[in-house]
This record gives sequence, C-alpha cells and structure tokens, in this order.
Amino acid sequence: MHLTKEEEAILDGDKGPVQERMFRLLVRLGEIYGAERMIPVGSVQVAGVSFKSIGIPGTEFLEDIASKRERVKVLTFLNPAGMDMEDWRSLGFPAEFARNQIRIMDAFREMGIVITSTCTPYLAGNLPRFREHIAWSESSAVSFSNSVIGARTNREGGPSALAAALCGVTPDYGFHRDEGRVPQVVVDVEADLRSNSDFGAAGYHIGKAVKDRVIYFRGIRDANTDQLKALGAAMAASGAVALYHVEGLTPEADAFSDVRGLEAITVEDSDVKATYEKLNTGKEPDIIFLGCPHASLREIADLAAEVDGKTLRKPVWIATSRVMKEAAERMGYVKVIEAAGGRVVADTCMVVSPLEEMGFKTTGVNSGKAANYLPGFCKQNVVFANIPDLIREVVR
Ligand code: F3S
Repeated sequence: MHLTKEEEAILDGDKGPVQERMFRLLVRLGEIYGAERMIPVGSVQVAGVSFKSIGIPGTEFLEDIASKRERVKVLTFLNPAGMDMEDWRSLGFPAEFARNQIRIMDAFREMGIVITSTCTPYLAGNLPRFREHIAWSESSAVSFSNSVIGARTNREGGPSALAAALCGVTPDYGFHRDEGRVPQVVVDVEADLRSNSDFGAAGYHIGKAVKDRVIYFRGIRDANTDQLKALGAAMAASGAVALYHVEGLTPEADAFSDVRGLEAITVEDSDVKATYEKLNTGKEPDIIFLGCPHASLREIADLAAEVDGKTLRKPVWIATSRVMKEAAERMGYVKVIEAAGGRVVADTCMVVSPLEEMGFKTTGVNSGKAANYLPGFCKQNVVFANIPDLIREVVR
C-alpha cells in the first residue's frame, strides 16, 4: 500500500501503541484485499456491542483501549447492545448480564462513541450521503447504506470498524471502488411482494441463491424504505449480499442498467411460499419480537394501529433505536402498544439479547433475517409471518 509520511509515522508508534496497533490492522486488511491507499471515512458503525457476543475478553479489550484515553476521529454509532439500557429490569434481563453490558457501554462512551445502539443508524442521526465513504459493520446497515443511499462501505468486522473509527480511515478496496459496485447477477422478481415479511422471505431465498454477489433487481415496481431494509437484511443474513441495485428505485441502478450476459434468477410466488414454510420451525410463540432491522417510526405506528384496543396474552416487543422510541412516545404510539400489553424496546434486538436465558423457547418474527439467526444464536423455534397474522395468534 502507498502510505503517506503521517501514516508511516503512526506505524512507527509516533501516535502511541493503540493507534499503531489499530492502523496496522487496517494496513494488513488493505494488503490482503489489494488496496492501494487509505481513504478518510465520514462515519463508522461498530458491531460487537452485546455482552452476549463479546463476553468478558471483549469487554476487557474495550476497557483497555478506553483507559488509554483513545478517542474516535469521526461520528461513530454502535450496533444493538444486549439489552434495553434503560428498561432492562422491567423487561426481565438478568442483572449479571446487565452489569457487564453497562461496562461495555461505558468503555465505548469513554472513546467518544455515540451511545446510540442501532442497526438503522441512518434513521437515528447518522445518515451518510451518496458516494460518501463510511466503515459500517452491521450487515443490514451495510446493505441499506450501500444500496438505498449509495454510500460506500465494505462489510466491516467489529475490530476493523473500531480501527477505522479511531484512525478515521479505511483501506480503499471492494465496495469503495466503482468496479466493486458492478452487478454480477440479475434477479427478476415475479412474486407479488406485499408485506415487509414477504420482502424478508424473498430476501432469504435470494441470499441463499446469490451468496455475496452484487444484484441488479428487475420487477420490483414499488417498495418503501422499510421493505428495502427487510429485503437487504434477509439477503445479507442468508447469503452475504452487501449491495443491490433496484431498477427505477435505487440511486446507482441507472448507471448499471446494462446487464447483458449476466446470469438471471427468477423469484416466484412459490419460492416465497416455500421460504415461509421452511423458516417456520415453531407453533405457539412465547414472545413476538418485531423490529429486525430496528423499526422505523412508520413500523411502530403500524404496530400501534394493529394492537390498538386489543389485549395481548403473550409479550409483543418491537425493537428500535432510542431516538425512534422517543419520537414514538411523543406521538402516543408507545402508550397504545403498552396499553395492549406490548413493549417498545430500545438499544437491543431479538438476536443479540439473551432470549434463551430469559426463558423464551419460541419467538414470532416478521423478519427473514431474525428467522435465519434465532435458531442458532438464541436456540429459538421460529414462527415467521406478517404482523397481522402474528398478532392474531396472541390476542385474547
Ligand atoms: Fe438489527 Fe438485530 Fe436484526 S442487529 S438487523 S435487529 S438481528
């Protein structure tokens, strides 16, 4: 890699041992992937936040960095934590888990990281612009920012994102470069996708088929941002799709509309139906946990409308960012959901929280991504359906 004099000096230890170690990690990554230089990033999103994911070794690693008074160089947000940082007691999170989660958040705060723990940072105060270079970790946030916004990020790991935050740069390879954004496969959507869970089911099916290739979609005539985030999240979970273009909808699609010669895959109603059947491994949910990826204000409003005046006989939680929860409180949506017996849960989600430790065995979700991860990460059986069907199951 070509490094500037200042960058060479960091490797020589001029800026202290943490900078040296973090910068070395970025250089190593750049060398592996053939980057020629470092590029500045506008923002970072760091994953590896839940105590469930990083345990005591990860907690001590973060505390060590924080104790050396290292500060991030750019706007940096966090992926969801393992619990709601304010309401963990009333939601039943274990006290020992909470103690460790608080240590992790304290360490991040010490580093100057914004303690907004969400996989939808673009809805919560960290919105990149078109073509801006960023270093984000969470796969659905990566997919959304690359595809729907047209910002540029690789799928960073927790350590490489933290290194980018502390150094303010990332190696220039992959999705940062024009050639990394060219479609490699066409997906023709013939299925009639209506609900967000339909988009999640289709995404799960497509991710399995295309793996990590860049997609050019045809046939999606209309989709709102919630549906695109559901689609992208599922494709990133079942495959490793980090960038897709949708004809007529996403900002770079026009530039890549010449897809002659590419393999084309067709998604039909029968594929979506088969995916619902495959992902349904449970029957009676102990809990319905929505908000994967973290819910937008519109999704919280829709849930409020769905449960308004009803009585829920099982917990119904919807995960979102703290910022979005506060907006939902002001609009009265939280009150309506709580009156029915549900909860709006901030800072965390069904996959990174210790659901299995909290006694839940079967979780109802409307997310293809959550349905993909819950069996492995949380030992859950899954009921996968759209929100009206899920709520119908648990209304008294
Ligand atoms: Fe977000 Fe958790 Fe889903 S991080 S995308 S809500 S698994």
